[in-house]
Amino acid sequence: MAFKVALNFEDGVTRFINCADTDTVADASYRAGINIPLDCRDGACGTCKLFCESGKYDGGSYIEDVLTDEEAAQGFALACQMRPCSDLVLRVPVPSAACKTGPAKQTAVLEAVNKLSASTISFSLKLAEPVKFLSGQYVSIEVPGTNQSRAYSFSSAPGAEVASFLIRNIPGGLMSTFIANAQPGTQISFVGPSGSFFLREVKRPVLLLAGGTGLAPMLSMLAHLQAQPPAHKVHLIYGVTNDEDLVETAALDDYAAKIPGFTWQACVANPASAYPEKGYVTQYILPEHINGGDVDVYLCGPPAMVEAVRKYFTDSGVTPASFHYEKFAASTPAEKAA
Ligand SMILES: Cc1cc2nc3c(=O)[nH]c(=O)nc-3n(C[C@H](O)[C@H](O)[C@H](O)COP(=O)(O)OP(=O)(O)OC[C@H]3O[C@@H](n4cnc5c(N)ncnc54)[C@H](O)[C@@H]3O)c2cc1C
Ligand code: FES
Repeated sequence: MAFKVALNFEDGVTRFINCADTDTVADASYRAGINIPLDCRDGACGTCKLFCESGKYDGGSYIEDVLTDEEAAQGFALACQMRPCSDLVLRVPVPSAACKTGPAKQTAVLEAVNKLSASTISFSLKLAEPVKFLSGQYVSIEVPGTNQSRAYSFSSAPGAEVASFLIRNIPGGLMSTFIANAQPGTQISFVGPSGSFFLREVKRPVLLLAGGTGLAPMLSMLAHLQAQPPAHKVHLIYGVTNDEDLVETAALDDYAAKIPGFTWQACVANPASAYPEKGYVTQYILPEHINGGDVDVYLCGPPAMVEAVRKYFTDSGVTPASFHYEKFAASTPAEKAA
């Protein structure tokens, strides 16, 4: 039986390989042209040590000097020994270039553009082939007719032929202006997926904190959870600046009806808002959401909002079991495609 193995590199690049249950991850990676660091190939040197974020595997045999029982219990494993027993997500502690790989380049056709409000647009891409990614990850989309790219998080579930995105319409912004005026049928290319902001296995309650279009990766996570219902509560607090920024509320209601244990609420920062709950997401975090620290927190939004929420947690003295965040920072130079 073959399983899907996601290799998430230190630089956020993710590549997917197929690996039979009879194969080691190292052998399957090499066949896919991805050179995970290896030396002895015998469980004796520890060069191929990586971390399993989710999934089940047979760790194989090795000497304890290179992988202690404690490390193995935490999820560390040896690529030259491990064989998958389910789909896996593995964190490889080197940059993708060190493994002679990088983000994949793909093409798509713009299928639809929807102006959800004066400030927010959703658009969808019909993909040449379904794109594998981990819910919460992003791709760098080329702005057609330029040599520039912008990062956008998927708002849809992985593996579909149509992928959707949620974008803040920034006046004068390069991609914002393009998307606001784009015609369906336009050819679009992108590289990715990338990012370490993705939904891990739900092992305890989850708190999702979204600011503005930082909702996009949360929608992708919810689409995933609809297909694979969580065993624990998942709560989303969605904060925006103005009423017009509050979008996709019907989709959130729909997820609340379909995902067991999922609840959500929103707040609007502008004091003049007509929305009943005003203020910032941190004002709505209750002890029941934090669960005494036994909670996985996912936070995404503009850099200032992400920093404010991180400071809130530092000041509150609560350390969540895990804390993952993504800042929607203004663009960086285009990434190099493989
Ligand atoms: C990992 C990652 C994922 C991202 N995912 C998303 C996403 O799913 N949805 C989304 O809407 N954005 C997302 N972004 C932000 C996105 O990549 C662009 O930066 C943003 O859409 C602006 O691009 P633009 O070409 O329209 O504007 P630009 O031409 O890049 O900028 C125009 C002007 O607006 C300013 N500006 C840029 N971004 C912002 C901002 N957020 N707020 C205020 N002013 C700004 C710039 O400094 C510049 O002055 C993400 C960013 C990162 C790093
Ligand atoms: S390559 Fe030496 S332990 Fe895997």
